[in-house]
Amino acid sequence: MPTLLIVHHTPSPNCQAMFEAVVSGAAAPEIEGVRVVRRAALSATAADVLDADGYLLGTPANLGYMSGALKHFFDQVYYPCLDTTKGRPFGYYVHGGNDVTGALRGIESVTTGLGWRRAAEAVTVTGEPDKAALERCWELGATIAAGLAD
Ligand SMILES: Cc1cc2nc3c(=O)[nH]c(=O)nc-3n(C[C@H](O)[C@H](O)[C@H](O)COP(=O)(O)O)c2cc1C
Repeated sequence: MPTLLIVHHTPSPNCQAMFEAVVSGAAAPEIEGVRVVRRAALSATAADVLDADGYLLGTPANLGYMSGALKHFFDQVYYPCLDTTKGRPFGYYVHGGNDVTGALRGIESVTTGLGWRRAAEAVTVTGEPDKAALERCWELGATIAAGLAD
């Protein structure tokens, strides 16, 4: 069964709301036959990445970059996963206060290095996520999961 790995850093209620919406989309009952695995970024391992077929990443923007936790995840898994995971699909979401540009650039840069294939538009939200923002998160989760189910 294909596996979707969700790696997230979730330090606040606004980030938690986005995470839950993404998980809900990924685990939608109409998408059958995909195993969804969630890992906090500080506990995700290279084995988790190698065992999965696609990825969802979630982070706040911190100090003009992705969170240190997600950066730590990439630092750990980059070389162990470089050969094996090329071409795999991924998507991501970023929550920020006012400017998520550096976080987006960082994630695009690392995933380009890994050779991962972005399979959905990134979802970015500043401030409290409204209904439309949470729907975009749900769609993100559902899109990546449905792609693995095909
Ligand atoms: C140390 C620190 C640095 C931050 N840097 C940024 C930043 O560069 N860009 C941004 O948009 N938000 C920044 N933020 C805001 C966080 O992204 C925000 O607190 C996080 O997404 C959680 O959102 P919430 O506090 O509204 O729940 C920063 C927050 C902290 C604590």
